[in-house]
Amino acid sequence: MTKEELCRQAQKMLQMAYVPYSHFPVGAAIECTDGAVFTGCNIENAAYTPTNCAERTAVFKAVSEGHRAFRRIAIAGSTEAFCAPCGVCRQVLQEFAPDIEVILVNSRGETMELTLPELLPHSFGPKNLA
Ligand code: THU
Repeated sequence: MTKEELCRQAQKMLQMAYVPYSHFPVGAAIECTDGAVFTGCNIENAAYTPTNCAERTAVFKAVSEGHRAFRRIAIAGSTEAFCAPCGVCRQVLQEFAPDIEVILVNSRGETMELTLPELLPHSFGPKNLA
């Protein structure tokens, strides 16, 4: 799948976001090393804390379907400012794909490409417990 297609899948998920509190939709699409793609959106909750970010929705959908090896993730925001993954989502990505490529796409369709080591340097992960 091309970078543009992965971004489009993430952007398409903006419409599925359940965001009655923040009104800040986020969409994500994660590509597995075997080419499979899983999408996700943020899902908020009246108690706030149970809110799940778009990235984690996508990762958890993939892992629960037997996919644990990831190559790239596209994260779509609905603002001109890029929506970078929160710290919790960075840590969840670190668990399965410490070198994953992260593509941010804004409301204008512009992209910014990063890597997880850039976003989460000096990370703690499975290697620390080995
Ligand atoms: N959110 C995401 O889904 N992903 C991010 O990378 C940052 C934040 C969500 C959580 C919440 O539903 C809303 O955006 C505002 O924080």
